[in-house]
Amino acid sequence: MAKSKAPEKHPQGTTDSASVQPVMNQQFDAPKPLQKYGTVSQRLPIGLDEKTRQESVTSLNQLLADTMTLRDMYKKHHWQVVGPTFYQLHLLYDKHYEEQSGLVDTIAERIQILGGVAVAMAHDVAELTTIPRPPKDREEAPVQVSRLLEAHQIILKNCHKYAKEADDAGDDGTNDVVVSDVMRTNELQVWFVSEHVVDTPLVRAE
Ligand SMILES: [Fe+2]
Repeated sequence: MAKSKAPEKHPQGTTDSASVQPVMNQQFDAPKPLQKYGTVSQRLPIGLDEKTRQESVTSLNQLLADTMTLRDMYKKHHWQVVGPTFYQLHLLYDKHYEEQSGLVDTIAERIQILGGVAVAMAHDVAELTTIPRPPKDREEAPVQVSRLLEAHQIILKNCHKYAKEADDAGDDGTNDVVVSDVMRTNELQVWFVSEHVVDTPLVRAE
């Protein structure tokens, strides 16, 4: 029969059972970051030079901040929508929220693959985004739609610019994310949202 092992002494003189305690408060008030925001590491061998990565990361962080803002605007409008189109807009807004959430992850992970640091927290996103800030108040459905379309347009104009820059620099992966994921999703959502503000008769044809 195997002899039971005596608990090992921890360097500080405690036993093993004490070493499973979480180590708290590890200098988060005096941070020494692994990597500073705005810098680009060449860690991953993906065949792109530093200048190309840096430019793509800068563009993608802008796209990320704007996408996170649009995502949150969809949830705000999902909760606050009112009127005869309540149910369809309530459902549509949440569908688009989920799709924008997917884009957020795709963009952020592309930034990390390129060696950058993805913007993440709400206050940092608020500083970076170029989408106009909506009020805390509840707004009419047509105003909600107009705000969403304006935000989509800001993102789409940037997509065209960033896709071309990435293509010119040879960053095909970033070009693909911008065109196949972000641009295509935003264009489709623009269609679905826009058709709600076409003034057509509800009951009797004109
Ligand atoms: Fe909901």
